[in-house]
Amino acid sequence: DWSMESFIDIEVNKIREQVGDRKVLCALSGGVDSSVVAALIHRAIGDQLTCIFVDHGLLRKHEGQSVMDTFSEGFNMNVIKIDAQDRFLSKLEGVSDPEEKRKIIGNEFIYVFDDEADKLKDIDYLAQGTLYTDIIESGTETAQTIKSHHNVGGLPENMQFDLIEPLNTLFKDEVRALGTELGVPDHIVWRQPFPGPGLAIRVIGEITEEKLEIVRESDAILREEIKNAGLDREIWQYFTVLPDFRSVGVMGDARTYDYTVGIRAVTSIDGMTSDWARIPHDVLEKISNRIVNEVDHVNRIVYDVTSKPPSTIEWE
Ligand code: XMP
Repeated sequence: DWSMESFIDIEVNKIREQVGDRKVLCALSGGVDSSVVAALIHRAIGDQLTCIFVDHGLLRKHEGQSVMDTFSEGFNMNVIKIDAQDRFLSKLEGVSDPEEKRKIIGNEFIYVFDDEADKLKDIDYLAQGTLYTDIIESGTETAQTIKSHHNVGGLPENMQFDLIEPLNTLFKDEVRALGTELGVPDHIVWRQPFPGPGLAIRVIGEITEEKLEIVRESDAILREEIKNAGLDREIWQYFTVLPDFRSVGVMGDARTYDYTVGIRAVTSIDGMTSDWARIPHDVLEKISNRIVNEVDHVNRIVYDVTSKPPSTIEWE
């Protein structure tokens, strides 16, 4: 695509001119925007870019490894992976309120990032994957007041860096095209939205490692089957949630008393409103069978058939 190639040339030159021989830091989350911004800046300045990837232990199955494989191995970028699972989980212990969870995770992210950035010397610039829509929406986004949308990547205000935001004239579809042109793999370019607080807001109520494991494993099965059914690009977002209750079931001759997994799958344009996805029944059947058979402590599957409004996409 000619126009995307020339956009890359122009931006690469601009970044080189601006940065000179100085250094740039980027918070890589594995999402589309931060991945594409990292790839673009890496194209421009190579090893003068360092990325910090905070694994808060609330990522989906294999996600941390996949980010490292793609960027550290594939692109040969300087990526520092911080395994901060214990830090996050201990801060979240005993916390069940959704907004409280978001606040703790957002703050802890900043502390972890800050600690790591402090160790790096001579960083002058901070790269961020701010899109055009992020700029026009900030301040007017009403969802903000309903749930505080704490994006991982929200950074301390007192940081002594100049910002580089090369995507801030682009819309999402242009960012995807740019990512593809830069060689970012499809599974990232076409990744469904994933909230900054991650699986923490998909374990309803108090978080335990056992519950995280249930939601992570069931989510992996759901994603695999949605992809197998060829539905992964038409459904906006699809994931599992773990409600905070158990119910009675039967297995062989024995009564069970175990968890229910909820399946949430929605179609949407922008996440502000949504409808529940009409997943074919045979696909739902397969997902349900696999989850109860393969994930311990689950004896019931329910499908969420509400639109937004009145529901929200996430359950917390
Ligand atoms: P709701 O649940 O408000 O979600 O209908 C709308 C979209 O926003 C995502 N979402 C979040 N994203 N931090 C994020 O970065 C959050 O705290 C958060 N809460 C919801 C949600 O996944 C959906 O795409």
